[in-house]
Amino acid sequence: MLVSSTRHVLSICVLLSLVLSFCQGRVDPNFRIRAVNLGGWLVTEGWIKPTLFDGILNKDFLDGTALQFKSVTTGKYLCAELGGGSIIVANRTAASGWETFRLWRINGTALNFRVFEKQFVGLDANGNGIDMVAVSKTPGNSETFEIVRDSNEKNRVRIKAPNGYYLQAKTEELVTADSQGGNGWGDDDPSVFVMQMTGRLEGEFQVTNGYGPDRAPQVMRDHWRTFIVEEDFKFISQNGLNAVRIPVGWWIASDPMPPPPYVGGSLQALDHAFLWAEKYGLKVIIDLHAAPGSQNGWEHSGSRDGSQEWGESDENIHQTVAVIEFLTARYAKSPSLYAVELINEPLSPGATLESVTKYYKAGYAAVRRHSLTAFVVLSNRLGPMEPRELFPMASGLRGSVIDVHYYNLFQDMFNNLTVQQNIDFIYTNRSSQLNHITTSNGPLTFVGEWVAELNVSEATKGDYQRFAKAQLEVYGRATFGWAYWTLRNVNRHWSLEWMINNGYIKL
Ligand SMILES: *[C@@H]1O[C@H](CO)[C@@H](O)[C@H](O)[C@H]1NC(C)=O
Ligand SMILES: *[C@@H]1O[C@H](CO)[C@@H](O)[C@H](O)[C@H]1NC(C)=O
Ligand SMILES: *[C@@H]1O[C@H](CO)[C@@H](O)[C@H](O)[C@H]1NC(C)=O
Ligand SMILES: *[C@@H]1O[C@H](CO)[C@@H](O)[C@H](O)[C@H]1NC(C)=O
Ligand SMILES: *[C@@H]1O[C@H](CO)[C@@H](O)[C@H](O)[C@H]1NC(C)=O
Repeated sequence: MLVSSTRHVLSICVLLSLVLSFCQGRVDPNFRIRAVNLGGWLVTEGWIKPTLFDGILNKDFLDGTALQFKSVTTGKYLCAELGGGSIIVANRTAASGWETFRLWRINGTALNFRVFEKQFVGLDANGNGIDMVAVSKTPGNSETFEIVRDSNEKNRVRIKAPNGYYLQAKTEELVTADSQGGNGWGDDDPSVFVMQMTGRLEGEFQVTNGYGPDRAPQVMRDHWRTFIVEEDFKFISQNGLNAVRIPVGWWIASDPMPPPPYVGGSLQALDHAFLWAEKYGLKVIIDLHAAPGSQNGWEHSGSRDGSQEWGESDENIHQTVAVIEFLTARYAKSPSLYAVELINEPLSPGATLESVTKYYKAGYAAVRRHSLTAFVVLSNRLGPMEPRELFPMASGLRGSVIDVHYYNLFQDMFNNLTVQQNIDFIYTNRSSQLNHITTSNGPLTFVGEWVAELNVSEATKGDYQRFAKAQLEVYGRATFGWAYWTLRNVNRHWSLEWMINNGYIKL
């Protein structure tokens, strides 16, 4: 009896202290996150730090590079008939999806070409050994090619097949690998094609596979060790910010031996970030930026070739939940762990509301198994969606937060706005968008990415200052807070460090 009531009291105490500690996180309703993203650090984005790619051999040909080839003799584009599953032809006057080939890189010279329906170009295994088809779903020796460029005009190329011969457009409807090559690069040679690059990815897959297993580990560790350092956390804490949002990739959970081409070491960098955050009194939002299979097909989600396959199977969702579980368990005891963002920018319609909802429920539970206090951030989908579509689920989840990203870029409607129109858009449209998702009993709201960048030529410093101020004012009303994208970037308006040091932004 005594034992049991003592136990009872004890368990009430435990429960109370858990509830209290959870409430403490929200005890001051006026507290807001003023964060900066550490973009381009543990998940590579080439545009943030282009020099990271400098040492790659043959760096034009990275995974996901999109190529189109126009035959100089037929004057038409190479095409995977029906988008794949059939033959290769050279009879298209214009190039789009079926005429675009995405590279998979074996090394600097050996390449696979993936077509629209995801098969690989190769020699017809059942044919005469020279006919070109796109039927194989996995690339092997018969699907491995080399691009040989004219040294004078680098966009004039020959494509060397695994049988040692070059592709040629014999007619518009017959493409075979049986050319010896020839002497020059003239317009009369059916093995010559004019190559056009129409897309390029520079993410973690590209940089690690680009350097290859011998060089990537050192290159990446040097990058992680130097791109963000302790001094940055000091700078952040001294300039009116109270948190960092740290994008990470799913491979971090299998450190130190992630599946190739990813390399180990990003987990140690994240450990350092937590130590520095603790030292300088900053909070951390861990943000799963790259989920297995890629949730949006962009380079910053670790996509290999632009494919978006996250959420297509339960197994894939379980794997993602396990990453969240791993990260929360590892950092739950850190006083700096403030929130875990389950996935960044899932893109509709590929990422369906159903798969996202299923994942968010399971991911939320995974966080709660290790932490009752960490907020759980749910990124709204991009693409066609309804801004409150997550509310029915999120309203039942204590400590949940909706993340929205507001850029006055990337959409045609912003291309021709004046500076003043951009600013008005913040005060009227963004303001009402944010109001729409900010409700008294729903999830908290977080503008997890924004930037004081405008697509206006000849905007002045004063323009940027006013644009930044408008955003700070409006996003300051988000009930969870905001995070600038990003701390450091060669594009200076995208670097909060540069914006602060040059007097564009003062917090
Ligand atoms: C590239 O890969 C191909 C196919 O595996 C191989 O034959 C070739 O030797 C490799 N080249 C280099 C430079 O490693
Ligand atoms: C290209 O050739 C294929 C194979 O003969 C044919 O089925 C297709 O209709 C042709 N397309 C055009 C646009 O000529
Ligand atoms: C800026 O506007 C131009 C057209 O004026 C457009 O081509 C470009 O994509 C826009 N850039 C961004 C980042 O939105
Ligand atoms: C922007 O302006 C250019 C040049 O005046 C025009 O060609 C284009 O159609 C405009 N774009 C939009 C989205 O209004
Ligand atoms: C912005 O808001 C104003 C005022 O409500 C409205 O008239 C305008 O159509 C909105 N613009 C866009 C692009 O949504």
